[in-house]
Amino acid sequence: MSVLKNHSKLEKNATLLLIASLAVVTVGGIVEIAPLFYLQNTVEKVDGMRPYTPLELAGRNIYVREGCYACHSQMIRPFRDEVERYGHYSLAAESMYDHSFQWGSKRTGPDLARVGQRYSNEWHVQHLIEPRSVVPESVMPSYAFLKDKPLDTSEISAHLVANRRVGVPYTDEMVANAEADLKAQADPDADSSGLESRYPKAKAGNFDGNKQMLTEMDALVAYLQMLGTLVDFSTYDDAAGYR
Ligand code: HEC
Repeated sequence: MSVLKNHSKLEKNATLLLIASLAVVTVGGIVEIAPLFYLQNTVEKVDGMRPYTPLELAGRNIYVREGCYACHSQMIRPFRDEVERYGHYSLAAESMYDHSFQWGSKRTGPDLARVGQRYSNEWHVQHLIEPRSVVPESVMPSYAFLKDKPLDTSEISAHLVANRRVGVPYTDEMVANAEADLKAQADPDADSSGLESRYPKAKAGNFDGNKQMLTEMDALVAYLQMLGTLVDFSTYDDAAGYR
């Protein structure tokens, strides 16, 4: 009885109701937020994830600079239509080395989270030069200038260091070899054993088809070709993590 009576007092007094609501929300907030300070990690570890190679990182920087995210998301949601179209839904761990992340929700074009290895390098180069030459109804702009723009490699080790400051586990060895690794990945004839030992599954190639010059096109295509390829979903078990 008395609880009911007190409650009607609360309902009739706006100030009291406000104070009581604030108290309830504060308790709820603390219960939700406090555990995050004690958890070591909110991202479940998944085998296969590694930081971007220097060439892929350079490509990612171009992707961000050109605003590709304005039309493309990189997050496959766990819905049947998305999984059937794009492949396994994205895991949090797959963007753990992304600063800033490229999830997005604006999809003028398709999601790119698993576009890696879906097309050949030649297809990507042709598509970036003139999208409508391969997909006639495309509204994507042309990025042909990237194939004539030499890639600036002088600051790549500084980019690795900047990423390390925000938590990407680049080692001193990776930083010291950044420029050499970048060049090795863009040249299929170079010795890429160092690159592959530092970055498992790194694929070397002449991405833009032009052997004379290392271009921004090389870096962007190298980046696109690795998207979503690091985790092996044939051995990944949704319920149990890794078997
Ligand atoms: C104005 C919007 C727009 C912008 C900006 C844009 N795209 Fe696209 N993109 C599209 C559309 C629409 C498609 C689908 C038609 C096609 O394949 O061209 C597409 C398709 C693609 C595809 C093929 C995806 C697939 O699964 O078939 C790739 C790869 C791609 N874009 C990369 C890029 C990159 C890299 C950039 C930045 C340099 C970029 N896009 C900028 C609209 C855009």
